[in-house]
Amino acid sequence: MIVAIDGPAASGKGTLARRLAEHYRLPHLDTGLLYRATARTLMDEGRRLDDVGAAVKAARGLALIDFDEAALRGREMGEAASVVAAIPEVRAALVQAQQSFAHRPGGAVLDGRDIGTVICPDATVKIFVTASPETRAQRRALELRSRGEPSDYVKVLADILHRDRRDSNRAAAPLKPAADAVILDTTDLDVKGTFDEALRLIQSKLEAGAARRVRSTVP
Ligand code: DC
Repeated sequence: MIVAIDGPAASGKGTLARRLAEHYRLPHLDTGLLYRATARTLMDEGRRLDDVGAAVKAARGLALIDFDEAALRGREMGEAASVVAAIPEVRAALVQAQQSFAHRPGGAVLDGRDIGTVICPDATVKIFVTASPETRAQRRALELRSRGEPSDYVKVLADILHRDRRDSNRAAAPLKPAADAVILDTTDLDVKGTFDEALRLIQSKLEAGAARRVRSTVP
């Protein structure tokens, strides 16, 4: 089973993807880390984020297992990742690794912006997780505070809106729900409520698939 989770910044998709992966005992790939690590490599090399050649080289050179997640999680890296993620050549350099991860035996859970639309158009279940910008900003501010980073709500909200705009309006694989994705609005849901609702969606999708298979085998 391949579970594709997409959604905007701070929608809760990462937490949901992790919990689903644990529940179904599937490997999980947070694809945002790929773009964050690409941006980080460029910054460490003192290069500009719009240096296409260096960005592609950085993306191709990523070793999935070597991520220092803590160093990639900050606000600044999210913004830098969004800039390099708009470069079509960078996206192209990362497609195959993501698809290989998704298609390992047994399946996987992937979360990002283009999993249901580009990386895994054949995913078993596609969930587009969203929430109001204000709710997302509140959650992100809390998370930043817990890590000791600056967490001014107004600034965080402006950042989120800016990043949403860039991620949604770029030409290459923009942030948008796949035509066959289920929208999960978490504005009024907590972590457990979001997880329970996702389980319900996945269960009904699996049952519908099983019923279709039975019908197609009945002569
Ligand atoms: O999910 P995140 O906040 O870690 O992602 C950081 C940025 O990376 C995000 O603003 C856009 C980009 N991204 C992307 O374009 N496609 C993905 N599949 C995942 C992330």
